[in-house]
Amino acid sequence: MSPGSSEQGNIDRIFTPEALAGGVHIVTGGAKGMGASHARRIVAAGGRVLLGDIDVAGVKSVADDLGDAAAAVELDVTDEDSWTAAVAAARELGDVRGLVNNAGIFGSGSVTDLDVDEFRQVHRVNVEGPLLGIRAAAPALRDAGGGSIVNVSSIAGMIGIADRAAYVTTKWAVRGLTRSAAIDLGHWGIRVNSIHPGRIETDFIAGLGASILPNQVIRTPGQPADISALVVFLLSAASRFSTGAEYVVDGGRYVGEYRPAPERP
Ligand SMILES: NC(=O)c1ccc[n+]([C@@H]2O[C@H](COP(=O)([O-])OP(=O)(O)OC[C@H]3O[C@@H](n4cnc5c(N)ncnc54)[C@H](O)[C@@H]3O)[C@@H](O)[C@H]2O)c1
Repeated sequence: MSPGSSEQGNIDRIFTPEALAGGVHIVTGGAKGMGASHARRIVAAGGRVLLGDIDVAGVKSVADDLGDAAAAVELDVTDEDSWTAAVAAARELGDVRGLVNNAGIFGSGSVTDLDVDEFRQVHRVNVEGPLLGIRAAAPALRDAGGGSIVNVSSIAGMIGIADRAAYVTTKWAVRGLTRSAAIDLGHWGIRVNSIHPGRIETDFIAGLGASILPNQVIRTPGQPADISALVVFLLSAASRFSTGAEYVVDGGRYVGEYRPAPERP
């Protein structure tokens, strides 16, 4: 590829405010935390965003702050009709080029003591939600000439964690969904990748203890913006050769055995 080719131009655009220009991107769970951060970064990269959440007031407030490039709808990711309305609203904003399946809930308990109803609900939101989103949005992405889907898994989708069986199993399932969708939708020019954040400072981790975990090589807490940068990359043409892939951003928490280094001067 020559430096002046249009393909190179697409890749270079990741470094400009036009990385996502001309496209509409749907972000679920956009009322706060990482979803709101992803929406802000998408708009900063020149994209438009349709935010969905069960927290209607919260998601409308985020969209209002973002101005004309954003709109908000009530969206329960477990509800197919809700998805149909959200994709229709996104189409009204323009060519739908991206979907970020970010909404998620937590479930605790070991395999022997977890609440089975809660287990099912966590699977409904964290696994069935992204599946329904992909089914609803894929035709819109196809009609736009292709696009990118980012499924939010977790570092919990890479390992087992004590007393987290419901959450861990959903985040592993997101990996399988991602690979299946990457294969099933490739012929429509749709790429599908998963991301695996480590502990990120949002309301989601309130009550879970320290932000910086003992094995974390980078000794600063993860912030939503650290993940949003990756989301913008995966939505953009700069990642055009990636599909079915898994991106870990965890401050090196699971790189290997950690040995504390002497304090830096
Ligand atoms: N914070 C972390 O440390 C961390 C780490 C790894 C992965 N994750 C994942 O990142 C994603 C976002 O997490 P966060 O930390 O921003 O959480 P958060 O709790 O701050 O925000 C989650 C949002 O999802 C919305 N939501 C919940 N159920 C919904 C539903 N049925 N339909 C639509 N919206 C719904 C909530 O209203 C909320 O606005 C989740 O999938 C989570 O599992 C978080």
